[in-house]
Amino acid sequence: MNANWNYPTAIRVGAGRVNELPDLCFEKGIKNPLLVTDTGLAALPMVKEIQALCELAGLSIAVFSQVKSNPTGTNVEEGVDAYRFGQHDGVIALGGGSALDVGKSIAVVAQQECTLWDLEDEGDNWQRAEASKIAPVVALPTTAGTGSEVGRAAVIVREQQQRKVIIFHPNMMPGSVILDPELTTGLSAKLTAATGMDALSHNLEAYCSPFYHPMAQGIAIEGVRLVKNHLPAAVADGFNLEARTQMLVASSMGATAFQRGLGAMHALAHPLGAVYDAHHGMLNAVLMPYVLMANYSAINESAARLASYLELEADFDALMQWVLDLRHRIGIPHALDALISDGERLDEIGEMAVLDSSSMTNPIQYSAEDYAGIARNALNGVL
Ligand SMILES: [Fe+2]
Repeated sequence: MNANWNYPTAIRVGAGRVNELPDLCFEKGIKNPLLVTDTGLAALPMVKEIQALCELAGLSIAVFSQVKSNPTGTNVEEGVDAYRFGQHDGVIALGGGSALDVGKSIAVVAQQECTLWDLEDEGDNWQRAEASKIAPVVALPTTAGTGSEVGRAAVIVREQQQRKVIIFHPNMMPGSVILDPELTTGLSAKLTAATGMDALSHNLEAYCSPFYHPMAQGIAIEGVRLVKNHLPAAVADGFNLEARTQMLVASSMGATAFQRGLGAMHALAHPLGAVYDAHHGMLNAVLMPYVLMANYSAINESAARLASYLELEADFDALMQWVLDLRHRIGIPHALDALISDGERLDEIGEMAVLDSSSMTNPIQYSAEDYAGIARNALNGVL
């Protein structure tokens, strides 16, 4: 399963292709990369092996790993300092969504006059950065879920304001990506399930978005099929390289598709994650059927088309039953009470969900009370 693709960016897919990293760096004119990863990964042999591989090929390389699971502005600032101090000429971003987002953020601001926060995703703020000064990035995901390797944005916590800020620049998408399934075999079954369901939620929500973008919709429908056919196998056997490859591809497809927008799963998962510190992918996985049910009147025709493509009965109920069976099979809890301690702040969650940008592209525009109601159904396991 080796392939080279040029859409949405240059992607090399296949087992062992991490070995092409040094050549790829030279091709991009990178001789002195800063490898950005998270603290957990930095302690594993994988990072040392990649570092040794690059050094052996004649690259001068340094590692920056001060990246939290919900990465902060401080993480990016320290990374920028490391980048400037080492006079680096490019970034290798290796890890899950957090490390990839920090790597992309360092590359976008390290050589600019503007600050990271100047590039918050509002209006044409991105024009404050000079595109020619964005450092080249090679991205290597070690999880299959966020699809950040093909995303044009990063989510960074602005500590002083206690909020997640979306940093955006159209040229922020890494110029080169390596999807090597061997980098994901260390992921536990539980995290494989949670991140895989995040990829599914991206594809599903992008598919259901009312925004006119048929190309993205086409990608989403095949992304869902890849998850259906390969997520159970990736969870059952983490060393199944075909399943791992297909899930990496499904994840990249989800993030490509969600240029069409996300929806109520993410509008709720974002504030629930911020308030209760629960895992993003797991939240989407639990919320999925409750949101699909709430959206029924707007999506039942498109759900039937999707179900037909998935070789299920061509109706909404079959799609719903498949989601429920998949969740059960890979160990996702049915109700939100498995993830959050209480429901006391669900009214507040509802208010935050309305303000979340993902709510704009849900097929139905909900009020704060509606969102709180969906979250309460999820909390109590009432479909
Ligand atoms: Fe997500």
